[in-house]
Amino acid sequence: SKVTFIKPDGEEIVIENASGTLMEIATENDIEGIDGACGGVCSCATCHVRVKAEWLEKVGKPDETEQDILSFETESDERSRLCCQIEMSDELDGLVVEVAPLN
Ligand code: FES
Repeated sequence: SKVTFIKPDGEEIVIENASGTLMEIATENDIEGIDGACGGVCSCATCHVRVKAEWLEKVGKPDETEQDILSFETESDERSRLCCQIEMSDELDGLVVEVAPLN
């Protein structure tokens, strides 16, 4: 499936045939601003992205653990997700997310 990461400076990075979690995809492709420091267990918040509004419904809402962690992020908002918790699928083909800068 295809996913686009928009970097804080506005550059778009398009990845075709992506699979796995968005954090894995981003770190494999050296996308700046996504570290995946905790290895994808939803505890570090270095994989913060904002989902494009038109994708919010398909991507779904963060669970409670994720919401807790996001609430400590200074710049999180209602489009924020920890992208290690988003698994690519056919349904998400074409997904666009904005990378939040690391704190
Ligand atoms: Fe640590 Fe997502 S990689 S919370």
